[in-house]
Amino acid sequence: MLEPPSVIEQLFICGYDAPMDPLRDVPLRVTQRDQIPVERYYDQEFYDLELEHFWPRVWQMACRLEEIPELGDYVEYSNVGKSVIVVRNREGGVNAFHNACRHRGVQLAQDRGNVANGFICPFHGWCYDLEGVNTFVYSPDHFRDDNIDPADLNLAPCRVETWGGMAYINHDDGAAPLRESLEPFATAMDAFNAEHMRIEWTESCLLPVNWRLALGAFLEGYHVRTTHPQIIPKGTRDKHTYKPSRPGVEYASRYAGTDDTRTQVDNFLLYLRNLHVGNRGMIDKRELAIAESLRHVELPDPATASRDFTHKIYEALMEWGRETNTPVPDFDYIVENEIPNGTWYAFPNIFLQPIFSSAPMYRVRPLGPEETLFDIYSLTTYAPGEAPPVPPTPTPMAPDDSRWPEIPAQDFSNLPKQQLGLHAGGFDYMRLAEGVEGMVSNVERMVDTYLEGAGHDHIAEKLPFASGRIGHVDMHPPGFFAAE
Ligand code: FES
Ligand SMILES: [Fe+2]
Repeated sequence: MLEPPSVIEQLFICGYDAPMDPLRDVPLRVTQRDQIPVERYYDQEFYDLELEHFWPRVWQMACRLEEIPELGDYVEYSNVGKSVIVVRNREGGVNAFHNACRHRGVQLAQDRGNVANGFICPFHGWCYDLEGVNTFVYSPDHFRDDNIDPADLNLAPCRVETWGGMAYINHDDGAAPLRESLEPFATAMDAFNAEHMRIEWTESCLLPVNWRLALGAFLEGYHVRTTHPQIIPKGTRDKHTYKPSRPGVEYASRYAGTDDTRTQVDNFLLYLRNLHVGNRGMIDKRELAIAESLRHVELPDPATASRDFTHKIYEALMEWGRETNTPVPDFDYIVENEIPNGTWYAFPNIFLQPIFSSAPMYRVRPLGPEETLFDIYSLTTYAPGEAPPVPPTPTPMAPDDSRWPEIPAQDFSNLPKQQLGLHAGGFDYMRLAEGVEGMVSNVERMVDTYLEGAGHDHIAEKLPFASGRIGHVDMHPPGFFAAE
């Protein structure tokens, strides 16, 4: 005679939602916050843990909304072996589905396109509408009735939310809502009108490095002096020393080195031009022309000339925005609220770098322990109807491809050498400068927090401390991210 099920088995049978596993030991975890074990950047086991416990729980930017403006427009977003379709629905919102036909699993969509009349599976012709509802099964009589229960034939939905002109997906239904998971990045980027920016161009780089190593090249400004000397303004290059620019702390003398206001203005304009040329964006050519048209503006006080000149540019840009109906940010609000421009990071894989009303955006996706797909979107702001057509999905280029603009080319040039260097004998950990590389440590320890199996509340509480403006984030104390 069969034994009745135990209480535990009964709970299991009833679908009891078991509490999370006790916290796991994380191999190679960061135990000394300013020393990062190098094997984290190539160890297969660590990478596999990320696939299992990290990527399925985080918000991932799937596409810009201008990529799917019309009913039925879709983007296939693929990362770490999971493909999701993000599609514009009849209400003007977006739906997301796991990209697999409910018959025998064939992917329903690739790349980008339009399925205004719904999805048709290329294998046996099953159909689905834009809500994922199955609308057609060919020859249903061939199937056992129970095996084509209509309730079980619809596309499996994936969680999707929008913010800042982007659709994000998350495989974790218990994760905190998107917007709060992106703070403080989201509030700052709202001020810079991220929602109203549009894609000017986009390219991808295939980097032979770990995804967190790729991130780390952008999580600090310590490298700028050596890697991008051309954006250290003339007159300060020789004596430039890096100091973190936190609110209330004077930024390291970016425009100083002279009392002559004309020279200060010229240095600043050169800096803007170098950013524009070096990024083929960031400062759009229209913004640069407006800044250069102000070159001879009256600036009576040499002590505040650089700040006053910046404010003149803000005024002129807002005026241009009003005249042309272009959604330029409210720089009065930005100044009043001391929202810094520059490189902002949203854990885990997005950067935005607004200066005025344009911004490069970076997205990082792992392809293996030592391979990363690095997308660059150059975003800017247009009057209604003036944005160019969205460019096609780029074919990834090598990091040393001569088509890269100067600044990403400089960043990319270090990364393959760094990945190789990590394998050198006797090199056990990367040492971080507490004062300027805090974000690198915080991001690594936030990843550990996921890997050890921290609960949703703990994750939601700590996430805002792993995002922010580069140079404004402290290395948080030992144990800060850990869930114990
Ligand atoms: S796999 Fe899609 S209809 Fe057969
Ligand atoms: Fe850089």
